[in-house]
Amino acid sequence: MRTPLLAGNWKMYMTVAEAVELVQTLLDNLEMVGDREVVVCPPFTALHPLSPLLSESPLQLGAQNMYPADSGAFTGEISPVMLLELNCRYVIVGHSERRQLFGEDDTLIARKTRSALEHGLTPILCVGETQTERAAGQAEMIVLGQLRAALGDLAGEQVAEIVLAYEPVWAIGTGLTASPLDAQTMHAAIREALRVHYGTDTANEVRILYGGSVKPDNIDVLMGQADIDGALVGGAALKADSFLRIVHYHSTSS
Ligand code: 13P
Repeated sequence: MRTPLLAGNWKMYMTVAEAVELVQTLLDNLEMVGDREVVVCPPFTALHPLSPLLSESPLQLGAQNMYPADSGAFTGEISPVMLLELNCRYVIVGHSERRQLFGEDDTLIARKTRSALEHGLTPILCVGETQTERAAGQAEMIVLGQLRAALGDLAGEQVAEIVLAYEPVWAIGTGLTASPLDAQTMHAAIREALRVHYGTDTANEVRILYGGSVKPDNIDVLMGQADIDGALVGGAALKADSFLRIVHYHSTSS
């Protein structure tokens, strides 16, 4: 069984003071979540102050990015060793905003994925097509191509450690969500590709999150889909009440 994972990607929001307040409200109001994992990915500046608040708590810490080297002359970058020191368990890799706005290509994303795994950090590897690509009937080809490029020659047991996030670019921050059926169809295609390359056991272990305008009013039906194992939440993760409602989802099939 795959443990559902609900992750908040705070992007470039939240000062340290705001981050601490949000986390305290989340911790005060989290119900029993033993059957699911809950992760927050704040900006780098908030990782250090949040780290002690989250230790021994049901909330886990993730970063939004990292550079694939332990240390070195890489101005402005943060290494996996630094993230581990702050008790980060997860790191988002290959988010579409990093691909589009910061020019990250498949090669760099593959290096980041490998480096995270080698350090015992779980990459949350994002893939997703643009509106134009979907309209051209290329959504699946693009998504599976991004996946192949990032995973490269990793062994099945390494792939099983990775969390994938299907985030259609046109659904991010737009209020447009992929329909539960469209999302499920893509998740199933991703899982089938994993099965072909790495075998049934690995394919059944990998968690595939959906991301793109996940909200309290669509989480229940999204989580009711067979191959959707969680959510990567942007805007709705910045408010305690909406993120708590998402974390406390009750999956339903319609
Ligand atoms: P929104 O939930 O704001 O659409 O953002 C999704 C996202 O990019 C999460 O990584």
